[in-house]
Amino acid sequence: MTPKTIKKIGVLTSGGDSPGMNAAIRAVVRAGFYYGLEMYGIYRGYEGMIQDDIKKLDSRYITHILERGGTFLKSARSAEFRTPEGRKKAFDNLQSHGIDALVVIGGDGSLTGAHLFFEEYGIPSIGLPGTIDNDLSGTDLTIGFDTACNTAIEAIDKIRDTATSHDRLFFVEVMGRDAGFIAINAGIGSAAAAILIPERKTSIEALVDKLKTRSKAKKSSNIVIVAEGGQSGSAQQIADEVKTFLPHYDIKVTILGHLQRGGSPTSFDRLLASKLGVAAVEGLLQGKYDVMAGMINNKIVYTPIVKAIVDDKELDEEDLRVANILST
Ligand code: F6P
Repeated sequence: MTPKTIKKIGVLTSGGDSPGMNAAIRAVVRAGFYYGLEMYGIYRGYEGMIQDDIKKLDSRYITHILERGGTFLKSARSAEFRTPEGRKKAFDNLQSHGIDALVVIGGDGSLTGAHLFFEEYGIPSIGLPGTIDNDLSGTDLTIGFDTACNTAIEAIDKIRDTATSHDRLFFVEVMGRDAGFIAINAGIGSAAAAILIPERKTSIEALVDKLKTRSKAKKSSNIVIVAEGGQSGSAQQIADEVKTFLPHYDIKVTILGHLQRGGSPTSFDRLLASKLGVAAVEGLLQGKYDVMAGMINNKIVYTPIVKAIVDDKELDEEDLRVANILST
């Protein structure tokens, strides 16, 4: 597309926060200043766009934020932005500030919003993949995934200490919405006995058989990782079912929950967020609109948002094979 003249860029974070969002905002804003642009922070995602919660940013806003978890711009899931009336209000507010381009940092819902907005109002926009779930195509990894996996592994290591002391079986539920990326990564990294993911259902019978085999091999502790989305129930339900087959097992359930979304980003996430932040501004200046900037094989790639959100991102078959071998 022939690049439009861009002078003022608005940046927002939307949907579930992820570690590295602050680093991404900083990179977007600093890159904007580098190219002589005015930069605006849109607070609370699309909700703030609708309510005109928009501030012109200077470098003070982005000092010492790279290392912080969460997002200083705050985040929200906006029901009103899903309506044409909500999007009209949002557009009017952008116009009143003279904002002529957008960088949207978030997951698939947030990028869907950016795409709709572009279709309706033609405002140049680029998405950045900000979600712990890693469920966006067009990038090997999303911003926050690496930190979330590290956080999960650290927590599971601690659970293993007590599991081993008491010869217990733990079911640990991890986040990921309907994707199993965190579960696979954290499961391999914490030597899990089994990893239950939505993409490949495991029957209770198969799980029980595996646990029996491990019991014969005198494993003193067992950790089963359960992805939150769509196995055959929650970790608690699966644990209850397994208990009916293995009544002598001492079974406990831990849900890691939102602690996986917090914390200072890892060096990997800081680097990814920084590179993608610069790529977002440079992409806009080159006329790349309605795309998501991602990193594939360590190279910046711009993928149409409709492809990034629609394609079902495949799990890595090699990860699955390794997980299987190592838990046998
Ligand atoms: O998309 C990120 C995520 O943390 C998912 O892993 C999880 O299912 C969901 O958000 C939780 O959302 P909320 O914070 O609104 O409960």
